[in-house]
Amino acid sequence: MKILINLTPFFAKIKKLQIVVLGCSCTCPVMECWFVQEKPGRGGGLTGATTQEKSLLHIRTDKQSDVTGSQRNPSDIDPNRVYVITDPSANLCHASLNPPRGSIQKPQCEINPFLPQPSSLNWVASLTESALSPVYLQADWFSSSFQGLNQQIGVSTISRAPTGTKEHDVILSITSRTMSAKSRLGEPVTLDCSFWVDPSTPLSASGFAVEWRYQTRGDGRLVLAYDGKLDRLADTHETGAFLDFEALHERGNASLVLEEAKVRHSGTYICTIYLPYLLAQVAMELEIVEPPSLSIHPSPLPLAVPGQTLNLQCEASGFAPLPLELSWEFKGADGKSRSLGSGRMSGHRQAWDGTFSQSSRLDLDTSKLDLGRGGEVTCVAVHAGGTRRASVTLNVIGFSSPSIEDSMAMVGVALVLYGLIKFVSWSFTGRKTVFSYLNKIKSRFSFYLFLIQSFRIFW
Ligand SMILES: *[C@@H]1O[C@H](CO)[C@@H](O)[C@H](O)[C@H]1NC(C)=O
Repeated sequence: MKILINLTPFFAKIKKLQIVVLGCSCTCPVMECWFVQEKPGRGGGLTGATTQEKSLLHIRTDKQSDVTGSQRNPSDIDPNRVYVITDPSANLCHASLNPPRGSIQKPQCEINPFLPQPSSLNWVASLTESALSPVYLQADWFSSSFQGLNQQIGVSTISRAPTGTKEHDVILSITSRTMSAKSRLGEPVTLDCSFWVDPSTPLSASGFAVEWRYQTRGDGRLVLAYDGKLDRLADTHETGAFLDFEALHERGNASLVLEEAKVRHSGTYICTIYLPYLLAQVAMELEIVEPPSLSIHPSPLPLAVPGQTLNLQCEASGFAPLPLELSWEFKGADGKSRSLGSGRMSGHRQAWDGTFSQSSRLDLDTSKLDLGRGGEVTCVAVHAGGTRRASVTLNVIGFSSPSIEDSMAMVGVALVLYGLIKFVSWSFTGRKTVFSYLNKIKSRFSFYLFLIQSFRIFW
């Protein structure tokens, strides 16, 4: 793969983009922001101790618009920590960074002093190999990160203010709209990351570099690194991860495409854009969520006789992440569902592809549970990826032993019927043909059984 780079059209296009966004009618926010810096003095920064102060950022998209005046600065903010930030890309004017006044939820924001410096990373070093006039770098530099409501957008900026002033210009801005991405297993995933460079900065002429890193619980690796100046991809061990180079050079779209989502892809991804001496990064979460496949064993269920205990097992497999909840339900002939509890849950096992499986055993005592003639037994799995169900049909042959009330009622009904038949056969002795049959069976035990059964069926 060899892409011929001509940076001039790239930045010319970005200029066009800028003209479009300058016409943006959106209102830009006034944001409270934590100003965080290393504690000066003792420890010399080695302790990692930081101070945190409230600051206020007035955002605008062009220098002409006036921000002072109508807005009063809150009294708990030091006037020295009030800044005006000009962001021609208008990324900081995204609606989720500007909630209506009085909203309880607030966008998150942090601003830090930033020290421009060359990078020695393989895929970045080329950007600073020709010594650049450092005069431009002599200014106050800040790195800021913003997170919109509901994680709709993440923005990181590098801004520059002439030394001692409070008016910043955004020089590099990088955004992501997939701050919290989810994907099913096996699907292609796009992790969004786009950047914007102030076309008037002398740094824009020297190219850029892109780096994607993966991080989770102490495990980190380089996913992809690309030197945009030399058009060179660094060697990584990652397979199935791509950049769209055309979109990258034409529109600053550095989104990472993962060909096929796997469980091991879950974690934090950091997109870093390098300009000579500058870098900005935005971190996002990817979670691979796959609901379980369910099966019930044995299926179909054997016919059960009253009093028999059936051992059922519900196997949930191929899901990620943990946890999973399994439970059982029974739906009788009357159409009513009721819970049979969660059964005995097994521990979970992990397969080679990182997915989990887990099962639940149910001892179904057909006499205890008043299951009637049967119905549907369902295993229900509740998982972050959705609820799944699997069912088997339960058939109880014969009838379960009736309760005492039922038996007494049946004896009563049997006696009444017996009396009735006796009476009828006595008064219509002439019609022997009909009643001889009844007389024959009434004298037998099976007659009672017949009555009981009729009772059970028609009750
Ligand atoms: C960047 O490219 C990806 C695909 O490669 C696309 O899904 C995404 O919408 C693009 N982002 C922007 C801001 O155009």
